[in-house]
Amino acid sequence: MIVLGIETSCDETGVGIVRDGKKILANVVESSLRLHSKYGGVIPEIASRLQLESIAEVYKEAVKTAKIKEKDIDLIAVTTGPGLPGSLLVGVSFAKALALSLGKPVLGVNHVYSHIYASILCHKNIKLPCVALVVSGGHTSLFYLKDFSDIRLLGQTQDDACGEAFDKVAKIMGLGYPGGPLIEKLAKKSDKHRIKFSCSGTKGELDFSFSGIKTAVLYCLKDNRSKPGIKNSNIAASFQESAINVLVNKSLLACKRKDVKQLLIGGGVAANNCLRKKLLEASNNAGVDCFFPDISLCMDNAAMVSGLAYFLYKQGARDTLYLNTQLNN
Ligand code: KG4
Ligand code: ZN
Repeated sequence: MIVLGIETSCDETGVGIVRDGKKILANVVESSLRLHSKYGGVIPEIASRLQLESIAEVYKEAVKTAKIKEKDIDLIAVTTGPGLPGSLLVGVSFAKALALSLGKPVLGVNHVYSHIYASILCHKNIKLPCVALVVSGGHTSLFYLKDFSDIRLLGQTQDDACGEAFDKVAKIMGLGYPGGPLIEKLAKKSDKHRIKFSCSGTKGELDFSFSGIKTAVLYCLKDNRSKPGIKNSNIAASFQESAINVLVNKSLLACKRKDVKQLLIGGGVAANNCLRKKLLEASNNAGVDCFFPDISLCMDNAAMVSGLAYFLYKQGARDTLYLNTQLNN
């Protein structure tokens, strides 16, 4: 079964084509990132306008790369939310028009859950139930997955998402956007013990909070400007260390609480090498199998949308052309 997926929840325009929920035939992603960098964050109107301009071309390129005919497509899948309203609307409208013109079914999928599916696309031995951490620019959430039609939220950020905190710290340091890779680069080979930051505690033991640590970095940089003493690279390294320690500790605590031995990670921050190394090491020590997607599938893409849709469709999920965006799920 060939599923063509469409992803336009934030600044990317993605079309992915996946066979039988596993084999990626095409995964084309066009990003408007360069247009947002100077603003230090995504400008929704710029994102949706570019998506509108590029979606037909991205679709054509994906079909060409996959070496299939349009008639070979069995299902059109699309991200319906959560995400930016205008951006989501571009993807959902295109998906419905395509489904209507090709006479194929359409299925909407949740963006956050599709990030979890990215690991399943990359690894063979994953068995559910498991715990999943989705850590991106918009979400930091822990889930218990009995399977993809039975996902329970265990905990989530009470304020900023982890990727958002990386982006804000990078902005304060004047590094640019997106902040995650820039902070990671700056922190490399720097002294993470020169200064200590810590994430605020939360009421729920599996919840997160990243807003306090971002403010602590802001004040530290201000003090440092008037009385220089600590290098920005050491501040970046300490911030990254604390944010990642929290992700590692709470993910393994969730596995312990749910008594599961499999942990899936997804979302843009999963591309962070320090997180990958620490979590793999800590999981190994705890007897938990931890799975990350390939780096290219951590960020927003549509192969993960196609993969998840295949799984849900096989389980009987169906939508109609009345499909709409789901902004808050
Ligand atoms: O999943 P994604 O592409 O979009 C959302 O759904 O949000 O994630 C983007 C986020 C950004 O906040 C970006 O700074 C962060 O992922 N990110 C990273 C790294 N690469 C991307 N954060 C930390 N380290 C990285 N290497
Ligand atoms: Zn995402």
